Amino acid sequence: MTRPIRALPDTLISQIAAGEVIERPASVVKELVENAIDAGATQVRVRIEAGGIKRIAVTDDGSGIPKDEIALALARHATSKIVSLEELESVRSFGFRGEALASIASVAQVVLTTRTGDDAHAWKFEDGRVSPAAGNRGTTVEVRELFFKTPARRKFLKSAATEAAHVRAEVVRAALAYPTVRFSYEPDAGAPLSLAPQEMSERIAALYGKEFAGASVNVFAEQGSMRVYGLAGLPTIGKTRTDNQAFYVNARFVRDRLLMHAVKDAYADVLHHSLAPQYCLFLDIDPSRVDVNVHPKKAEVRFRDAQAVHRFVSAALKQALSPALAGKDLAERETAQVPEAFPPAFEKEKVKPAALSRYLDFYADAGGAQAAIGELFGKTEADSDKEPLSGFALGRALGQVGGVFILAENAKGLVIVDMHAAHERIVYERLKRAVDSKVPSQVLVMPVLVSLEAVLVETFAQNRETFARLGFAVRTVSETQLAIDAAPAVLASDIARTGEEVLARMLEDIQNFGSTTLVEEKTNRLLATMACHGAVRAHRYLTLAEMDALLREMEATERSGECNHGRPTFVELGLEELGRLFMRGR
Ligand SMILES: Nc1ncnc2c1ncn2[C@@H]1O[C@H](COP(=O)(O)OP(=O)(O)OP(=O)(O)O)[C@@H](O)[C@H]1O
Ligand SMILES: [Mg+2]
Repeated sequence: MTRPIRALPDTLISQIAAGEVIERPASVVKELVENAIDAGATQVRVRIEAGGIKRIAVTDDGSGIPKDEIALALARHATSKIVSLEELESVRSFGFRGEALASIASVAQVVLTTRTGDDAHAWKFEDGRVSPAAGNRGTTVEVRELFFKTPARRKFLKSAATEAAHVRAEVVRAALAYPTVRFSYEPDAGAPLSLAPQEMSERIAALYGKEFAGASVNVFAEQGSMRVYGLAGLPTIGKTRTDNQAFYVNARFVRDRLLMHAVKDAYADVLHHSLAPQYCLFLDIDPSRVDVNVHPKKAEVRFRDAQAVHRFVSAALKQALSPALAGKDLAERETAQVPEAFPPAFEKEKVKPAALSRYLDFYADAGGAQAAIGELFGKTEADSDKEPLSGFALGRALGQVGGVFILAENAKGLVIVDMHAAHERIVYERLKRAVDSKVPSQVLVMPVLVSLEAVLVETFAQNRETFARLGFAVRTVSETQLAIDAAPAVLASDIARTGEEVLARMLEDIQNFGSTTLVEEKTNRLLATMACHGAVRAHRYLTLAEMDALLREMEATERSGECNHGRPTFVELGLEELGRLFMRGR
């Protein structure tokens, strides 16, 4: 049975379009808040009833809509934001599809009240009619009974409290990107939120909480038309949940794989992989270098030069997270960064001793892992007699407590160092430096044949040098087959079993992000294990000279504020804080 082809009625088209964009009350709020900001609002007020299912009202003090354009604003494919393809390609506003209001109106009752600067009074649009109304400059869009016409959708909604939480999260997202705009969120039940105009860092602190404010670093880097900035949480406040993660591209909140990968990359070395970093980052980029028209909700973007963006973001973040422990940085790090509870105890990486010793052999040439581990305490006897306190960020060693902690005095007061954690980081960084210069390769007894999709084999052909640099010797056998003759030493023992998976993952990474960190990840994990074994054990008593040497080494080592499991390596107690412990001056 066939039916004749017919054009769909307008309302049905809008309902279908709404299906892509309007999922729940929070999506309505997102669209209305974006419209408010596009209209130049300095104040945005969001009120909801029953999680927004019953009623949503978003009020702004923006430009307003002229009376004779109101009906058009609610029509499909009508927008004031672009007029041509060129404008779409360099669009800076949130909106450009001219669909949001029409979509919302097709699945809910919408009343729009608006007044421009030129109007003597406001106009109200309801049930297709425009009539005079009271109201200040700006626009209020009221949305009632979401999905009342589409009960199937309504069934997917969660409890009012859950929907309200999603609405709140949406308001928070917008508020982070527009700190100078006043925002209020007023639910009929639950806690309201009210944000006065602020500096970016104040706004982030207000929304991410005190812990984050006390344990985050500034990120800022520029390159050509790109700029990345914001705040990144220190690894010490990594969470097992993924809240407090936000990335914006030209002020648009996105959940972009490339950017998430770049962030993960930057944290890979300092944060245990079971923990999620906290960050609020903004990438500003020439709008013509990024396509925002790839996703109906505009939650994903496509960069013209994805690899450059990935490299830039990841490098900027890495740099922000690993300043050498100079005195200035130390002074800025407050003791507040010590988390209430340490991250859960981490399992030691399970490495077969044989693999480990084989690995150590490989590095014996490349700088010498054992040497790196052993060396530290050999050369430390030197002049520790009269070090002036002021010269060293971590001060001078006073003694050891419990075989675990080193106490030191610096210009600010008391420094307490976890000696195992600190040494582990130092050894790890040394090993990495030794390894970075050369990835050792191991010839396989038997070549390993792997079958891959033709596109991946093609990608390989274009990236031969990358594989060579990473210690692989690989050749093309057919359109869908590669042969591995040699592999990086870290992977060699498993390559017969995992070759296909390893190559596929590396090639996919290269396709998607322009680079792959798989070998580095594996190497770093193994090095971390070696460092942990090589690091000075607890309950070993050190001489003062050895302790001082450790402190000096920490100051000179990148990322030495945290061990490679993301725990802090030292805390500082200023004289004032010490005084407070004794209730001095009260
Ligand atoms: N709060 C507002 N203040 C001023 N004008 C508005 C407001 N909301 C909507 N408009 C006007 O109505 C038009 C339609 O809005 P709508 O959200 O449907 O589409 P859009 O923002 O242009 O594109 P998109 O569908 O991508 O959001 C806008 O282009 C704008 O001119
Ligand atoms: Mg819009």
